Amino acid sequence: MNAVSKIVVVGSLNTDMVFHVSRLPVPGETLCACDANFSSGGKGANQAIAAARLGARVTILGKVGMDFQTDELMRNLNDAGVNTEHLIRDTGTSSGMAVVIVDDDGKNMIVVWPAANGGFSGADLLAQEPAIFDSDAVITQFEIPLDTVKQALRVAKEQDVLTVCNPAPAVAIGREFLEMVDILIPNETEASTLTGMNVATVADALQAGLRLRDMGVQRLVVTMGNQGAVYIGPEGQWHCPIFQVNSIDTTGAGDAFVAAFTVAWLKNPDPVNSLRYASAVGAFATTFAGAQLPSDCRKGVKKLLEREDITPTLVDRK
Ligand code: RIB
Repeated sequence: MNAVSKIVVVGSLNTDMVFHVSRLPVPGETLCACDANFSSGGKGANQAIAAARLGARVTILGKVGMDFQTDELMRNLNDAGVNTEHLIRDTGTSSGMAVVIVDDDGKNMIVVWPAANGGFSGADLLAQEPAIFDSDAVITQFEIPLDTVKQALRVAKEQDVLTVCNPAPAVAIGREFLEMVDILIPNETEASTLTGMNVATVADALQAGLRLRDMGVQRLVVTMGNQGAVYIGPEGQWHCPIFQVNSIDTTGAGDAFVAAFTVAWLKNPDPVNSLRYASAVGAFATTFAGAQLPSDCRKGVKKLLEREDITPTLVDRK
């Protein structure tokens, strides 16, 4: 494997309109926010920036529109060193948008409006496919059309490139799709949607993981918020508890986890190290406001790894 891993992220870019509230609203309720701001987000962009900040050479494939925040979305990617030259600009629409509500405990609710992301077609992807040929891994999520995600996975598999899929927001997908995924990284809600099982505990996540392996996925990690994360693969099953941090905002923590797991796996395909590293990065990502890792994140993650003696525990070796 190359010293610096090459990752292509196929996915969304959004402007996040973020409202900070003391607690999340219930249906029908109006709340006053204590603070509000615009920031750059989108699962694709967040994962691309995280992978680049963690040391990979990253290219993003996707579609942006034309609005007051689009240049800012691109600037953030470029500042992190992400190659944006293949991004398509659709002048007839806006870039993706998300309303993000964050409470005092850092928990969030998110609603996404795809806009330009929704117009990123399979044909658009095929026009950019040479970018995938030379990569070590492709990371995808579900904020762009599913057919485009499939196309990206197909191209990657044909080139023997590692495929990582973060099935968010969750939709039910079939065996044909799952068989193209080398590493699937759902959270507990997404694992529930994919399997039809109620995934609420670590034991549930392990069961859902086994079901997903029966459905065609080779390896997967289920992220469980405060309950940590579990790895299920041919090497065995491990559970990693969470790194204790002062959590301010969980937005983008899952994206940081996905990028970190991929970066670690490409360096050394070891489930225990990759799970531990991704858990530390995911926890670190909750310690600041916003969805994208800052430039000094590696220092913070290193400190966390040194401070906390957390090691994934083997649940089953099969
Ligand atoms: O995963 C967090 C992201 O989800 C936010 O940045 C928002 O844009 C939505 O895509």
